[in-house]
Order: sequence, then structure tokens, then C-alpha cells
Amino acid sequence: MRKKIEDVFTPRNETVNSSMYIEREEHEKNLLRSVNGSMHSFLFGESGSGKSWLYKKVFSQNGINFIVINCANASRNGSVTNEIYSKFHPHGGAEKKGFKQTKKAGVSVIGSAELSHESQYDIQKEDRLLTCYKKAFSSASRSKTIIVLDNVETIIKSQSLMDELCDILILLDDEEYAKYKVKYLLVAVPNDVLQYFSSIKNLASVGNRIDELPKITGLTSDQVLMFVYKGLVISLEVKINSPKLKGLARHIYTVTLGIPQRVHEYCEVLAYCIEDNSWKYTDELIESADELWLKRGLRECYNVIQLHLGSGESSDQRRGQVLYALGRISTHQIDTQGIGIVIGQDFPNSAPKSNSGIGQVLAGLSKGEYPVLKCISNSSFYTFVDPRYLMCIRLMLYKDGVSGKVKKKAFKLN
Ligand SMILES: Nc1ncnc2c1ncn2[C@@H]1O[C@H](COP(=O)(O)OP(=O)(O)OP(=O)(O)O)[C@@H](O)[C@H]1O
Ligand SMILES: [Mg+2]
Repeated sequence: MRKKIEDVFTPRNETVNSSMYIEREEHEKNLLRSVNGSMHSFLFGESGSGKSWLYKKVFSQNGINFIVINCANASRNGSVTNEIYSKFHPHGGAEKKGFKQTKKAGVSVIGSAELSHESQYDIQKEDRLLTCYKKAFSSASRSKTIIVLDNVETIIKSQSLMDELCDILILLDDEEYAKYKVKYLLVAVPNDVLQYFSSIKNLASVGNRIDELPKITGLTSDQVLMFVYKGLVISLEVKINSPKLKGLARHIYTVTLGIPQRVHEYCEVLAYCIEDNSWKYTDELIESADELWLKRGLRECYNVIQLHLGSGESSDQRRGQVLYALGRISTHQIDTQGIGIVIGQDFPNSAPKSNSGIGQVLAGLSKGEYPVLKCISNSSFYTFVDPRYLMCIRLMLYKDGVSGKVKKKAFKLN
């Protein structure tokens, strides 16, 4: 029986939908080995790349006890420890049996009754952690528990929360804490979290306690094909022959960069287009899906690219070629020479004699109020500020077969 579209394509679902989960052998193996090792683990990748689904799948499948702390809440509540504590004690009241309420400087704090230093806040925090670890240890029947700190990037700008996080990690070297077999998995979008740990001199030791996993990237083109097959053909019973399915999957892989969340989003809008067409798939529906998907998540990117593209007069031709070439290359490291090669291949009749104009355009794209590119530090390379710009370029720019010029698809965004 045909499933419901919303049960098949779930772009931001927290729980893993096992029938649509695409196995990621390498990433899964790396994560499992890392959490079984002696260090804390660090998992990073673009938003929507599947970090949260990955650890949920791997831990559940391997019977690993874990608890997820959202650092965004710690940021709001002002303490990582308190967030961990409240996660372990969701019904705070019932857990207060062994504690007594003490007042210090007019502020109500909860201190352990057996603790003699209950007036010292730090000690209280450590005590709270210990309470959590003990609880984890007993509910995990004396085996390991992973505390997942998700969205660590949300606390990077807070010196006090980052210091607290370092303390928490270092504290686990202490036998008193380590015996409860708790380990941390830090999860973040790519930024300077690890650099933060290693760059500050007296925190270098924290960096040494963290195992950095390889970056979580998008799905491969074969994985996207498998996903489209499972979703459209198997679950929604759409009839698509093999060559068409391959072409469709290739298009989805190209415009979404294989980022799982984006793949779900795209397939969701396409599925609704197919439903509106009496469940018949035709290649023309790709155009409609492109437009709907762009409207849904890439509207601002479209406007920015349009801005950089200029008015389309002849002086802007080079700019158009550079932007188009940016959409054609798959590397994350962009430089004048690489773009020059692509332009030379794609526009043999109007390629520049030297690469100088290209460098200027690339520099222009990295400046202003809405930069599309940013410099990679200490190099002459650029990278996209946000992968959505690349998705957008791939959707909106094409080479006109007759004039050989770069053209923009005019999507009706309003
Ligand atoms: N292996 C997978 N197979 C199929 N779909 C996936 C897979 N991993 C993730 N997804 C899809 O992508 C969405 C985003 O995944 P997830 O929430 O794990 O990303 P994330 O990297 O944690 O993003 P963020 O940094 O924004 O929290 C999921 O809701 C799901 O729809
Ligand atoms: Mg996540």
C-alpha cells in the first residue's frame, strides 16, 4: 500500500525513520570505534548533513546508552551542568529527596546534604555531575553511557560556558568520576570548536582528550539514487523506469549536494507534484519541483546570486561565467586557476586569455554586504560561505545552447 508522503520524506524529523535511513558505513564505523575508544569524540558537519541521525542510529543499533543535551538550552540557562542535570532529572521535584535547599546571598541553590562545602558553587556543580554520572551508571547496568552535547556551536561565543565544558571534560580524568563510565560526544557544525580547545594554551590538554572524527559530508550519488528509489518507487509506488530514475537521482544529487535534509526536502516537494499529477511521474515535474524547492529554502540565496550576477549586460558576462563555473566544480577549495580551467572548457570561444579578470570577480564575490565566498585563511583559495549558494547556482544558472551565454532561470518568487 502507498505510504503517506509525510511519513516517507521527513526533512527535520528528530527520530530516525529506519525504513528511509541510508546506511553510511564509514561514518558509522568511525563513530562506533571512536566512542569505544578512550577519548571523548567530536562529530562535525554542515547543518542537515545527518549528524544527529547518525549517532542515534549507531547508538541504538549497538545498544549504547546515551542521553542528548542540546547546548542551545545550556546557552539559554547559563550552565552546561544544569542542563545535564535537568536532563537526568526531568521531574526535578521527585529527585530532590536526598537534597536540602540552602540559601546563599539570597539565591536559592540545591546542595547535597552530605556535602560539607555546599556554599561553594563549583563544588556544587561537580556534585551535580557526579549525581548524574551515578544515575547513568546504574540505569545503564554499570556499562558505558555517552552524554551527547549537540549543537556545541551555540556556546562557542560564551567564554564561561566553554570554560565550564572544558572543566567537565577534564574532570573525567579523575578516578572518582571516571569510574562511572561516562564519555562525551560533542556534535557541532563546522566552525572553530576544536580550534578553540587547542588554541588556548592552558586548554590544550582538553584538545588532546578529544578524538576528531572525519567530517560528515553529503550522501554519495549512489546513496541518493538508493534513497529516491526507496522513497518514490517503493514507499510511494511511483512508476519510473530505470534510466529516468537515474537521471532524476543525478539531478537531485547535483542540486542538493547530497545533504540528507535537502534531499528529503526536494523529494517531498517533488512527491507532491507527482501526487498532483495523478501519481504519474514525468521529467517536466523536475522544473516545478526545482521552483518550489527554491522558494521554500533558497529564496534569499537566489536574491544574493542575482545581485552578484548584475544586470546581464556584456560587462557582466565574465561574472556570469565565473558564477556558472562555481556551480560546475565539486571541490571545496576554489581558486582562480580552477575556475579558469572550467571556463576554458565550457566557453571555448569567449574564455579570457589570462585569469586576471577571474581573480577580480572571485574577490568581488567575497566582499560586500552579502558575500557568497570567503577566503580560506593563509591561502589563495576560497570556499562558499554557505553550501546553499552552491545549490542555488546549480538550480538557477544554465548555458544557453544557441548563444553560449550564461542565462538565469527566472523563477517567480512572489
Ligand atoms: N542517513 C540518513 N538517511 C536518510 N536521511 C537522513 C540520514 N541522515 C539524516 N537524514 C535526514 O536529514 C535530516 C537532517 O539530519 P540531522 O538532523 O541528523 O542533521 P544534523 O547534521 O544533525 O543537522 P543540524 O546541524 O542542523 O542539527 C533528518 O531529519 C533526516 O530527514
Ligand atoms: Mg543535529
